[in-house]
Amino acid sequence: MALPCSRACRKYLLHLAQENIEFRLPEIKSLLALNGGQFTPEENFNEKSPFWVLNIPSEEIAQGIMKRTVCAKSLFELWGQGRTQEDLQASLNSYPMENMVPYLKPDSTYKINVYTFNKTVTHLDRIKRIDALEFLPFQGKVNLKNPENVFCLLEDYGSDPNSIPEQPVHIYFGRWLADGQRELIRSYSVKKRHFIGNTSMDAGLSFIMANHCKVKANDLVFDPFVGTGSLLVACSHFGCYVCGTDIDYNTIHGIGKASRKDQKWRGPDENIRANLRQYGAEKSYIDVLVSDASKTIWRPRELFDAIITDPPYGIRESTRKTGSQKEIIKPAEECSGENHVPVSMAYHLSDIFTDLLNFAAKHLVMGGRLVYWLPVYRPEYSEEIIPKHPCLKLISNCEQTLSSHTARRLITMEKLKTFEEKDELAHLIDSKLSPYQGHNSFREKYFSGVTKKIAKEEANNTKNKD
Ligand SMILES: C[S@@+](CC[C@H](N)C(=O)[O-])C[C@H]1O[C@@H](n2cnc3c(N)ncnc32)[C@H](O)[C@@H]1O
Repeated sequence: MALPCSRACRKYLLHLAQENIEFRLPEIKSLLALNGGQFTPEENFNEKSPFWVLNIPSEEIAQGIMKRTVCAKSLFELWGQGRTQEDLQASLNSYPMENMVPYLKPDSTYKINVYTFNKTVTHLDRIKRIDALEFLPFQGKVNLKNPENVFCLLEDYGSDPNSIPEQPVHIYFGRWLADGQRELIRSYSVKKRHFIGNTSMDAGLSFIMANHCKVKANDLVFDPFVGTGSLLVACSHFGCYVCGTDIDYNTIHGIGKASRKDQKWRGPDENIRANLRQYGAEKSYIDVLVSDASKTIWRPRELFDAIITDPPYGIRESTRKTGSQKEIIKPAEECSGENHVPVSMAYHLSDIFTDLLNFAAKHLVMGGRLVYWLPVYRPEYSEEIIPKHPCLKLISNCEQTLSSHTARRLITMEKLKTFEEKDELAHLIDSKLSPYQGHNSFREKYFSGVTKKIAKEEANNTKNKD
């Protein structure tokens, strides 16, 4: 059935990439909020579909989203949609003519693209589909190389590659407005980055984190577990001033063993400042310090617009904090090889998150966001284990699976209340009642015999299927 559209109505069609699916909705919601819009989908909204029809108050807001998104590919002003060709035609015929006319004028040039999802169609079939649109009053000239206006017919053949229907399940037609920023995933790839480590965050996820965090130009952004600064790189691309801390002296000073296979030692100028310089964002660099996230070094002020971080889970880096000689439970030489933390002791994951949430509650400005990764052992996961804080509201929680039994979840929280002493989360390490106790054994579970057994079983199952 064709969907009627009132004269004032303007809808937008977002075409999304079919990867990082759980991260797309929080990204688009955050970008809408950043641009002064609200998420108002159509009635039959399907979060998993590559096509979303959204009611966005203005084209300016819609364009604002596209300047930031790495989850969406393209945006169209939706002129018509339907389940069948007839539905689409009826829908297009009911679209207000005054919205179309400026783009169909005799002195204009245009082209029509055909895009099919989950099906390949021949060139001839594409031409047929374009010819079937001749009822639209195009008056301009076709120009395939450099048209003023680009239109697109988009056909959705569902998401099951093993059962592709003969006819599309839905068809859309719209005027192309803008592409998203997916090109950043390639141009900021860590493979081509000056300074990297073995836990550098990949470019796509770094930009998604910055978008979930709603960072904007001139914000002051902090990463307490900065490593090689991948998250600062993404935030600086959006015009933020960036700073961070890390307990590892070698990482902060860009010295010690290199992470690249073909290189033994880090070269001169392999550091976070040089990474920002590589992308023309050195002016955004405030500084990075050697500091332990478990010990507060900051005056009690609401200082940061955003805190964005990837804390250590103890898988590819050890979880450590500084300790006095008396507290030492692990000699320095036993801490992972080339890293340099002179006197260190174990830093339990539940404490890392307690400290992080307390820190964010104290040092974020009101409305500022904290975005961080939480490792989880999937068989034991429930929403209850997501750390809570009286000053911070949970905004989104998206899973990235690492294996059948382990995952990390991207947690976004927003500060809604000024911190008071009574809000301080206590360290609950000894309490058997703590819902966060389970985080401490993530490393053991990750490397456990159970894990290996599951992995082996999975490998066997796959082999048997083949
Ligand atoms: C997962 S890595 C962060 C990677 C970073 N996002 C990047 O792109 O390179 C975690 C970092 O936390 C640091 N770290 C571990 N314990 C710490 C502590 N107590 N205080 C501050 N940093 C710590 C490690 O040295 C490591 O660089």
